[in-house]
Amino acid sequence: MVHFSRVTKTYPRTHTHALKDVDFRIDKGEFVYITGHSGAGKSTLLSLILRRILPTEGTVLIAGQDITKVRERRLPFLRRKIGMVFQDHRLLPNLSALDNLVFALRATGERGNLEQRALLALRQVALAHKRKAPPIELSLGEQQRVAIARAIVTTPPLLLCDEPTGNLDPDTSWEILELLNDINIRGTTVIVATHSRDLVDRLRRRTIVLRNGELVRDDTTGGYSL
Ligand SMILES: Nc1ncnc2c1ncn2[C@@H]1O[C@H](COP(=O)(O)OP(=O)(O)OP(=O)(O)O)[C@@H](O)[C@H]1O
Ligand SMILES: [Mg+2]
Repeated sequence: MVHFSRVTKTYPRTHTHALKDVDFRIDKGEFVYITGHSGAGKSTLLSLILRRILPTEGTVLIAGQDITKVRERRLPFLRRKIGMVFQDHRLLPNLSALDNLVFALRATGERGNLEQRALLALRQVALAHKRKAPPIELSLGEQQRVAIARAIVTTPPLLLCDEPTGNLDPDTSWEILELLNDINIRGTTVIVATHSRDLVDRLRRRTIVLRNGELVRDDTTGGYSL
C-alpha cells in the first residue's frame, strides 16, 4: 500500500533534512503509528504519501505507483484513494455536518444520492443526529468525528491522520482512537501520526519511530516504551 525506499526529504529553502534515508513498507489493512518528537518528520512523511511534496532522494510508492512519476492531471485520482484527518479538523464553518460531507463527495466528482452516502458516514461515527449542526455547535471531539466521517465518506482504501487527538482530552482521544480502530477493522489501512505516548501505549499497534528525520524503530508489537 505504502512503500518508502531510501527516502530523503530536504526542504530547499531552509536546507532542513526532514527525513533521512527512510525505508518501510505498510501493507493493506495495517494500522500503523508514526511517532517521534516535534520536528521529527511525521507530517513530512504524510505529505509525501499525499504527494503534496516530492522526495529529494528515494522513491515513494502508493498502491504500486511511484508518486514522482504521476502526472499532474492524474493527481486527483491518486488523492481520491487517500482520506486525510488533520489536528484542526478544517471543516467548513458555514456548512452543516452533513453538508461538509456532501461537499467533500462533490469535490471528488461523485454523483448520485450524496446525502444518503454522507448520512451513512455520519452514522459510522455515531453523529447522524447532529447532521444539521454547523461545526460551531459541535464539541471539539464531535468536530473531529465529523472530520473523520468526511475523510472516509469517499471510502478511500487508505486513511491518514495527523495528530487527530491533538486538541482533545484523554477520554475523547480514546473515543477517536477506537473509531479509527473500527475503521481499520472494516478494512481501511490507517496511518496515525502522533507524539502522544498515551495513545500509542493504550492501543498497541505497529509503531514507526522517527528521530530527527531518521527511522530509529519499527516495532510490530507497538507501544512507546521498550
Ligand atoms: N515547508 C517547510 N519548509 C522548510 N522546512 C520545513 C517545512 N515543513 C517542515 N519543515 C521542517 O522539517 C522538519 C520536520 O517537520 P515536520 O513538520 O515533518 O515534523 P513533525 O514531526 O510533524 O512535527 P510536529 O510534531 O511538531 O508536527 C522540521 O525541522 C521542520 O522545521
Ligand atoms: Mg506534524
